[in-house]
Amino acid sequence: MRILLYTGKGGVGKTSISAATALRSAELGYRTAVLSTDPAHSLGDSFDVRIGPELTELAPNLWGQEIDLVTQMDDHWGRVQTYLNAIFAWQGMEGLVAEETAVLPGMEELASLMQIVHLADSGRFDVIIIDAAPTGSTLQLLSFPEVARWYIEKVFPFQRKTIQIARPVVKRFSDMPIPDEDVFDSITDLVSHLERMSKLLTDSSVSSTRVVLNPEKMVVKEAQRAYTYLNLYGYAVDGVVCNRVFPQHLTDSYFDIWKDAQAKNLQLVREAFHPLPIFEVPLFDQEVTGIGMLEQMALTLFGPEPVQGGAGDPTRHFYHGKPQDVFERDGYYVLSLALPLVDREDVKLHRSVYDELIVRIGNWKRNVALPLGLAKLDIAGARYEDDRLNIMFVREPDQEVTPEELEPSAWRNLRTRFNNARA
Ligand SMILES: Nc1ncnc2c1ncn2[C@@H]1O[C@H](COP(=O)(O)OP(=O)(O)O)[C@@H](O)[C@H]1O
Ligand SMILES: [Mg+2]
Repeated sequence: MRILLYTGKGGVGKTSISAATALRSAELGYRTAVLSTDPAHSLGDSFDVRIGPELTELAPNLWGQEIDLVTQMDDHWGRVQTYLNAIFAWQGMEGLVAEETAVLPGMEELASLMQIVHLADSGRFDVIIIDAAPTGSTLQLLSFPEVARWYIEKVFPFQRKTIQIARPVVKRFSDMPIPDEDVFDSITDLVSHLERMSKLLTDSSVSSTRVVLNPEKMVVKEAQRAYTYLNLYGYAVDGVVCNRVFPQHLTDSYFDIWKDAQAKNLQLVREAFHPLPIFEVPLFDQEVTGIGMLEQMALTLFGPEPVQGGAGDPTRHFYHGKPQDVFERDGYYVLSLALPLVDREDVKLHRSVYDELIVRIGNWKRNVALPLGLAKLDIAGARYEDDRLNIMFVREPDQEVTPEELEPSAWRNLRTRFNNARA
């Protein structure tokens, strides 16, 4: 089974690309499911049909689903939420605030991503394609189920056992809401789902993530950042789709400046994502809706030759390995970059205002978005080892990097918010 996850900023073309990939996959004979987890669903628009919250048949071998967050949440964590509501209200939070806070950050996205587990376990599909709009925090939650555990323990600081013993006492002396058995069951269910999800999505033999972007500077910067974290969390990224590239035959001089800018940004994309393959998709002369346009998109993405395992098979692994990695060694944090086929001349390292590290070796250049935790550390040196350039960051005692600092700030903020709410 293969799981392909397309991710990227809103509007770059994720849904269209996912739909085109799914169509090609189904045409190759794979039983394919395509899911949209973005609450602003448009998968149906891509296929030009109505797709419901249940699996809908779209073409031979192809089913689609637009996940309904509200039902998903109610089905899985209705009880947990009710309890959280009560607890926050008890702590003196206003009703509405409590209600809003009771939706655990990222939970809605998680609820929809959970559907992947159901589809995978059903055994009905060879390929599952996810049109995902998840934020960094959700992806992180999925990649470290222990984070989920930590988080859940913080929010539910009681053990089932403790509660069983303490319930009568607490009931007598305090009006604090105590979770009932159903809540615990829901939480156990949530954690086991998370663990299963995590295993699936970080197993590179099963799942590949593809970054979708447009050749616009800010879009590229954001994608680069997302890519750094995807690597950090252990998602295997095997390609980049650069969508809406102005076609060469566009000669109207009005577009000259645009075309120049796109050429520069395409170069930026190559520097940021090397050695991943970059799939360029032109800006078509119309929207990508309906089977015909999706087939055209699939053709520009994967080429002709639709045979299983052939060049035009979108379920292939387009790249093996980890182009970018961060680990600890001998008291250093090491940023490790795959550098096949680079002349081993002097390495020049330079930092940009975007917390990026620019690596220059001869006329080869690579652009890496640094994780927050590394951005503040000094570089001790760099070393070539096994086709990789390993850059060492000093760990000064007063510059200790906490695991949280390798996380995106959004996630930390949410944690803080929660801890404050509980304090
Ligand atoms: N290469 C392209 N050429 C022309 N229109 C495109 C192209 N890619 C996407 N579109 C159109 O752009 C709009 C947004 O694309 P969509 O796939 O929904 O983006 P996302 O899912 O990332 O928000 C849709 O109307 C889609 O048909
Ligand atoms: Mg979309």
